[in-house]
Amino acid sequence: MTGRRRTAVLISGRGSNMQALVSAAKAPDYPAEIALVVSNRPDAAGLDYARDQGIAAVAVDHKAFSDRVSFEDALDTVLGEHGIDLVACAGFMRILSPAFVEKWLGRLLNIHPSLLPAYRGLNTHERVLGDCASAHGCTVHFMVAELDAGPIIAQSRVPVLEGDSADTLAARVLQAEHETYPQALASVASGEVFLN
Ligand code: GRF
Repeated sequence: MTGRRRTAVLISGRGSNMQALVSAAKAPDYPAEIALVVSNRPDAAGLDYARDQGIAAVAVDHKAFSDRVSFEDALDTVLGEHGIDLVACAGFMRILSPAFVEKWLGRLLNIHPSLLPAYRGLNTHERVLGDCASAHGCTVHFMVAELDAGPIIAQSRVPVLEGDSADTLAARVLQAEHETYPQALASVASGEVFLN
């Protein structure tokens, strides 16, 4: 391996997936280093966690910008300043424009709480329950301009159990996310998986 890939994690809130990536990256043979955490929300709890871990943590508040392009320019500048090579979105609640996605194509990952291509978009747990589906899960994929539509890197399946609420189901999926994302990031950072 020629050095660990410098990775930024983009968050908007509690950042439990980011924490799972940070933990995994503590292993000396993990092929990525979490070098930066960025939140579009200055009050995201995940920023404090990252700082406590000694990781650079930056808020790029989307509300401070008049449009998406200027917000993304600022985000891209921060990524550049930190020498970032891979970007892992983890509960990052902003849509990224086609131009930004194109610039980072193949180096921009996202985790989504469903077995894509099923249940793109929001409120996946509620929709799974509404459909009485028997299985649910999570997907890590390369981001493309179309939302939740990029090539799949890894998926994990969990059962939907009788009596599940959106909360109990979300907790089961989240546990799967915390295992799946570190594995998926490692497979991309090591070069084993790439966008063709
Ligand atoms: C996760 O379920 C993720 O899949 C979804 O938002 C949630 C973020 O949770 N996009 P966290 O901030 O990583 O704890």
